[in-house]
Amino acid sequence: MDQFVPVSELTEDQARKELARLALQLNDANTQYHTDDAPVISDAEYDALKRRNLAVETAFPNLKRADSPSDKIGGSVSESFSKITHTVRMLSLGNAFNDEDVTEFDTRIRKYLGIEISAKLDYTAEPKIDGLSLSLRYENGTLIHAVTRGDGEVGENVTNNARTIPNIPQQVKNAPAVMEIRGEVYMSHADFHTLNKRQEEKGGKLFANPRNAAAGSLRQLDANITASRPLEFFAYAWGELSEPLADTQSKAVARMADMGFSTNPLMQTCNGPKALIAHYKTIEEQRATLGYDIDGVVYKVDDLSLQNRLGFRSTTPRWAVAHKFPAEIAHTRLEAIEIQVGRTGALSPVARLTPVTVGGVVVSNATLHNEDYIVGRDSKGMPIREGRDIRVGDWVEVYRAGDVIPKIRDVDISKRADDSQPYVFPTICPDCGSPAIREDGDSVARCTGGLICPAQAVERLKHFVSRGAFDIEGLGNKQIEMFFDDENLLIKEPSDIFTLETRDTANFTKLKNREGWGDKSATNLFAAINEKRVIPLNKLIFALGIRHVGDTTGSLLAKNYQSWDAFAAAMDAAKDHEGEAWDTLNAIDGVGSVMATTLVDSFDAPETRAAIDRLVAHLDIHDVVQTDTSDSAVAGKIVVFTGTLERMTRAEAKDRAETLGAKVSGSVSKKTDIVVAGPGAGSKEKKAKELGVTLMTEDEWLALINETSG
Ligand code: IVH
Repeated sequence: MDQFVPVSELTEDQARKELARLALQLNDANTQYHTDDAPVISDAEYDALKRRNLAVETAFPNLKRADSPSDKIGGSVSESFSKITHTVRMLSLGNAFNDEDVTEFDTRIRKYLGIEISAKLDYTAEPKIDGLSLSLRYENGTLIHAVTRGDGEVGENVTNNARTIPNIPQQVKNAPAVMEIRGEVYMSHADFHTLNKRQEEKGGKLFANPRNAAAGSLRQLDANITASRPLEFFAYAWGELSEPLADTQSKAVARMADMGFSTNPLMQTCNGPKALIAHYKTIEEQRATLGYDIDGVVYKVDDLSLQNRLGFRSTTPRWAVAHKFPAEIAHTRLEAIEIQVGRTGALSPVARLTPVTVGGVVVSNATLHNEDYIVGRDSKGMPIREGRDIRVGDWVEVYRAGDVIPKIRDVDISKRADDSQPYVFPTICPDCGSPAIREDGDSVARCTGGLICPAQAVERLKHFVSRGAFDIEGLGNKQIEMFFDDENLLIKEPSDIFTLETRDTANFTKLKNREGWGDKSATNLFAAINEKRVIPLNKLIFALGIRHVGDTTGSLLAKNYQSWDAFAAAMDAAKDHEGEAWDTLNAIDGVGSVMATTLVDSFDAPETRAAIDRLVAHLDIHDVVQTDTSDSAVAGKIVVFTGTLERMTRAEAKDRAETLGAKVSGSVSKKTDIVVAGPGAGSKEKKAKELGVTLMTEDEWLALINETSG
């Protein structure tokens, strides 16, 4: 097993062959074990093969086989849906809430592309369907699979269910050899009411709204149930394509319609933000009579070459935005304010409300953000709600925007009781009794209990297993709370998760025999945990739950340090907040001094570090696989842009350089390889000269990366 070529060194061809061989070996091993009751290889060998298979799949998601052993638990297909990695990630959209946001969206795009405000710039505008997104893969015109969005990277394989949706074509003509069509599955109002009536008659569960009904219907393990539920599909986007569908968004959608997909009749091309807002109003007027739920209007840059130049932020495209309809509002009573302690110790006030329906969903809790919000001022000390504070017993306005947690917008002072008292924010942690301190510049008070505070520990564990982090199936918030208080099978820190199975084997009372558990759920849990022993570096960094380090930073750090060993060594070397390692960390674009400090200090705190080391001992951490930039002249180079760039904006220059494997830094040091200086460059150009760093003009840079400069 130790003779494997490291995954990062595999060619695509080798990877494909290896996945085929592993599928065969694992399949044979499964049959020998489960069907023949005569295992040939040891459990440890079996696990090693499975881990290797997953590691290769993670590095080459496009090569994952339809019969991938990762999708099987034991000898049988898992009871949940199998997982499929999207070859092109499924993203969400940024939001605009008013006309000003729309104008800003347009201005941002023009600035990025260098297009004058007065010049024509076309967008498409279309309803934002309130359903769930689905990606349909066609190969040579035949529907191969249908995958839900999942976490955007990996979704659920719901092919059999999607095949029952009448307006999803099974075959398409004149399509590219590989074509992924994306769109929204939804249920019409009429069908939703009929379905709920039927559910009521047979005593079944009622759905809160058409969106939940559509999601519940598509995610049925029995496709016959899905078939009995009236679902529909609108196509509006695409994933992988072996050739482009067209050169504009509107023509691409027209082509989808020609191929037999249903597309939304209200889509229109609009020049500039005024026209977009006018079409928004038209759609808003029709909203009530459309017969299906929409929650806004989506705007997309029409020209696909411009979309391509604009590219993406971490989870949203720069070339599109969702202009949301105003949120629905409801009035109810605030019964109590409770304090929750988060994983970084933040004390968050939560409103307990008399239950009320907002936008089809019953709401009984809402966030109150922080102490300032309750008092009636913003982070800069300026009044919000004209300075009205929020008190227990008050009548409040609750609203929901999209899927987000309900919020409280305002309070009705005319209904306030005479003896009502302002809310006093606690100064000690309600969970561990340690002082809660609000530091200068921090918007929240934090428990100072650190590792002794049980609330923080539980929240850190919940974060650790959450989506985007380790995402362990069968180990959600409920289970974490159970194991955290479980004397026989304790999970107090992340490493305990990976010793759970061994400890259970040694225990007298097994997990499978406990209330709420069974043979299958226990086996599945252990399998799901084992599957995550192989983990990509960015997810591990994110999962550690260090303050200020979100998933974007996790990816940024992983990309910069490439391996766990290099990352941990760099954090150690930077512990004194000075020297080369410290400077390198701070020079990463996207890492500020506050984040650098918390990061380095967490690694330097002995207990935290010991817990991290205990965890890492159980893991096979996946190095970051570089995108193939080997033929790029600037791969691995550290580049600084300074001065005015004339052929592209700064943001675009940075994106392009990074796509080619370069690292873009904000400051010049002796580690810098290239400084690209435009007119007006000042101190950075000077420093480059002093340090003897290669200096070039924008044109020279473009020539180097093989772009025509004319
Ligand atoms: S475009 C790269 N167009 O909204 C972005 N999304 O909030 C591709 N949605 O995940 C999405 N109607 O599920 C697009 N006309 C529409 C849409 C739409 C609904 C959903 C979609 C997406 C979510 C983002």
